[in-house]
Amino acid sequence: MRMGRLLAVGTAILCFAPSGAALAKVSASADGKLLRLDGGGVTYAMGVDDKGYLQPLYWGAALDAGAPLAAKVPGELSGFDPAGSITAQEYAGQGEGLVSEPGVKAMFADGNRDLVLKYRGHKVSGETLTVELADIRRPLSVTLRYTMDPTTGVIARSASVRNGDAQPVRIDQMAAATFTLPTGDDYRLHYLTGRHGAEWSQASVAVTPALTVLESRRGSTGHGNQPWFAVGRSGTSETDGPVWYGALAWSGSFQLSVGADNLSRVRISGGYNPYDFSWTLKPGETLDTPVFYAGYSAQGMGDASRRFHAFQRASIIPGGAKAKIRPVLYNSWEATTFNVTEAGQMALAEKAAKIGVERFVVDDGWFGARDDDKAGLGDWSVNPKKFPNGLKPLIDKVKSLGMDFGLWVEPEMVNANSDLYRAHPDWVLHFPDRPRTEGRNQLVLNLARADVRDHILGWLDRLVRDNDIAFLKWDYNRNWTEGGWPGVPPQDQQRVQVEYVRNLYHILTELRRRHPGLEIEGCSGGGGRIDLGIMGVTDQSWTSDNTDPFDRLTIQDGFTQAYAPSIMMAWVTDSPNWANGRETSLDYRFLSAMQGSLGIGSNLDHWQQGDFDTVRTWIAAYKEIRATVQRGDLYRIAPPRPDSATSATLYVAPDKRQAVLFQMLHSSMFRDNVGAVALDGLDPARTYKVRMLDGAALPDGVPGLASGAYWMRAGVRVKMKGDYKGLGLVFEAVK
Ligand code: DGJ
Repeated sequence: MRMGRLLAVGTAILCFAPSGAALAKVSASADGKLLRLDGGGVTYAMGVDDKGYLQPLYWGAALDAGAPLAAKVPGELSGFDPAGSITAQEYAGQGEGLVSEPGVKAMFADGNRDLVLKYRGHKVSGETLTVELADIRRPLSVTLRYTMDPTTGVIARSASVRNGDAQPVRIDQMAAATFTLPTGDDYRLHYLTGRHGAEWSQASVAVTPALTVLESRRGSTGHGNQPWFAVGRSGTSETDGPVWYGALAWSGSFQLSVGADNLSRVRISGGYNPYDFSWTLKPGETLDTPVFYAGYSAQGMGDASRRFHAFQRASIIPGGAKAKIRPVLYNSWEATTFNVTEAGQMALAEKAAKIGVERFVVDDGWFGARDDDKAGLGDWSVNPKKFPNGLKPLIDKVKSLGMDFGLWVEPEMVNANSDLYRAHPDWVLHFPDRPRTEGRNQLVLNLARADVRDHILGWLDRLVRDNDIAFLKWDYNRNWTEGGWPGVPPQDQQRVQVEYVRNLYHILTELRRRHPGLEIEGCSGGGGRIDLGIMGVTDQSWTSDNTDPFDRLTIQDGFTQAYAPSIMMAWVTDSPNWANGRETSLDYRFLSAMQGSLGIGSNLDHWQQGDFDTVRTWIAAYKEIRATVQRGDLYRIAPPRPDSATSATLYVAPDKRQAVLFQMLHSSMFRDNVGAVALDGLDPARTYKVRMLDGAALPDGVPGLASGAYWMRAGVRVKMKGDYKGLGLVFEAVK
């Protein structure tokens, strides 16, 4: 996109005329007092006031090129409110009476903790805007970086702090960005919370001066709070109303805070979690933050998430628009747990190939002394009792059956009962002379150490090079405790919170670079480490260890608020489900799992002939619609809610030529009839033919052919009866 042509510049007012069809993306007034990003129907603007503070001016629906935006110095409210506290700042230093969350908090070598950041300059370079702030007295500067995606309007913001002094400076808090919303007192924060097996629960609270903090103190993203937010106003719904949303691209301890000040100005700040953070900047050293992505929609939570999904597909997920469609995989975990053997896996592989599986994945148990979760992590050589001839015979077999091969690994962990730990007890996170708490009998390797990083990269590289491995499932099954890094000077030990995650990204990035065809699934006891950081170096995510198809509807509804369905792995597993004992039909399990990227996790040795026929049909049907599910627009028509008998989810292909509706009934509640479901996102002028996803005859009352306008206005009304029922309808454009 090309910059617009500057027509006139007032003191702090700009007029732009679009050059060609494209609006200016990054622009600055000639005096540098107004800085603006435009794209995807969104405008983001900031300005420098006469005292030199950089103020947020506007974030919302696109403004005219000549909109009269200008930063003004606020008048004094009272003696209780000095300038630093009443001036809304784009990125504030902790100083001069600031009462809201700072962007950066520092202590200089002489104990001074007053940091006042003012505008020093900016640079527009292609699609990136950088703004330079500096302390009013000391040589400490902050660089803010901005880009905006022209299609979705998603802004990427990050910050760097540089110590230009001859003495060290300790940084105690550092946000990637602070976002400021229009003044108002009717905001609600929507967030995602949960625990192992029950991730992705949706919650909301009013935004008030009582700060809400979403955080992880676990060293990784965690199951507890997602580094994601959506803030709407009182009338905002799935389909209407303004939404400001965003997510931090960071897979370590994080903090997102959302609150209003006493003037009802709402701020959202996100970055490193200050609870166990400090970084002593040496003279001349710089500390960078992760990127905080954020966007705006005027059309409700549904449009906000569709924009964010599109952005993730295009700009975060490896491969972007060229990313491969997710293959249907088989995973051995629920079938064989640690009891993997060459013969057993070969037998499963033969059955998996017959039903249309494209990737066969051996989960935990193939290495070291790994007969249960008490031993083996760290010793990544093939277990000779289980695979006497190495992995080659199994991999050859899998490949001869037309599938590619995947393997489970948990590289960041070590069991105390392992050769690796016996050789390198100092390689784990710990504090000397303190207990080392185990979780699932394992300890966390300190990836911040260069030798640990190189060791992990080394064995992974050899494993992938020496075996025909197309895919790794990268697991991570405990949180940090005693997150110490002895061996570096005390003032540098808390760098572990940052260096660990950077080295994790380094290993994944380097492994992918050395093995360009390799695909990776991120996993952490289910969905414990899913965020935009890990998304950038993995191809898909394990959503939850809870594979019950009914619970999964709620889990998937939560997941898709923030993240794209294409990376959301969903398996069909056995009934009754291991997690909760619920019994469901194969049809229901497929209809639930087909709403993401499909996998099979059942014990195929327990299936009857009829099951294989059913499953073959469903997998073939999935392959016909998966491009729409994985790359289309998701409309959460009727979300699963405890007080509702039904739910409905719709995926519409980007060219609107195919749409797939999943309608689920969890309890008929004495009704054999559910209301009409109106579709969305179709082309009203096109005619769409409808068919059942499993090839069955169309239910009574559903016309075979109608316009997009008909399906979106009259909708489809299908009689359903029973508990845990579902159906899939495919709409194909015929003209
Ligand atoms: C936790 C994962 O979420 C499961 O899918 C499985 O891979 C186990 N770990 C294996 O130990």
